[in-house]
Amino acid sequence: MSIHISAKKGEIAKVVLQPGDPLRAQYIAENFLQDAKLVSKTRGIFYYTGLYKGKTISVGASGMGFPSIGIYSYELFTEYDVETIIRIGTCGAYTTDLKVFDLLNVENAASESTYAKYAWGIEDDIIAPQGNVFNLINETAEELSLKAKATNIHSSDIFYRKDPDIPAIATKYNCMAVEMEAFGLFANAKHLGKNAATILTVSDIIPTHENISADQREKALKPMIELALESAWKLV
Ligand code: HPA
Repeated sequence: MSIHISAKKGEIAKVVLQPGDPLRAQYIAENFLQDAKLVSKTRGIFYYTGLYKGKTISVGASGMGFPSIGIYSYELFTEYDVETIIRIGTCGAYTTDLKVFDLLNVENAASESTYAKYAWGIEDDIIAPQGNVFNLINETAEELSLKAKATNIHSSDIFYRKDPDIPAIATKYNCMAVEMEAFGLFANAKHLGKNAATILTVSDIIPTHENISADQREKALKPMIELALESAWKLV
């Protein structure tokens, strides 16, 4: 048991898939894992552990933003001996070069956030995925004939902004899309010597306001879930 996760030690697998949304974690557990057991529901942030093709994998939510993913990933890494977290989420595209439903394998996460600096003294404003998971995801995507574009993304503290222009940090690092968690996850993994990666599905195109409708979301996320599970399977 940790402060925010009520699972017993040993009830969480070495590899965790981490969507933002607890209901998405539940959906993955119920539709993709066998014998899935709910091991934590503190604050409605569900964690499940079950079998994928015979190997034990956990799936649980991060919540939204750096404070939330910072807490859950830290407790998973330090209190449950988790070795690898693969975040799976959605993102907004800054450019019409990306299309809704596109899959991204995050190559670097850039952020104006002070999270990494004040948590761990990491001064960088751009952090890569940790360990070999990024490469493993690329290889696995190829095996599955899925196109997962390797790209830099902007991890933002802000969802609604006054200024409609693309933020300077996104331009500086050629970030094609924005989400709100990868930088915090990578910072924790870097500090703790753990493994982390992020796979994203483009859910909206910011310049055109096109987006995936609520009823398309489930189907839209299936390739990302399969890519994450197949990659996780190789790590167990
Ligand atoms: N901004 C930040 N995070 C997001 C977005 C966005 O437009 N879309 C999906 N996650």
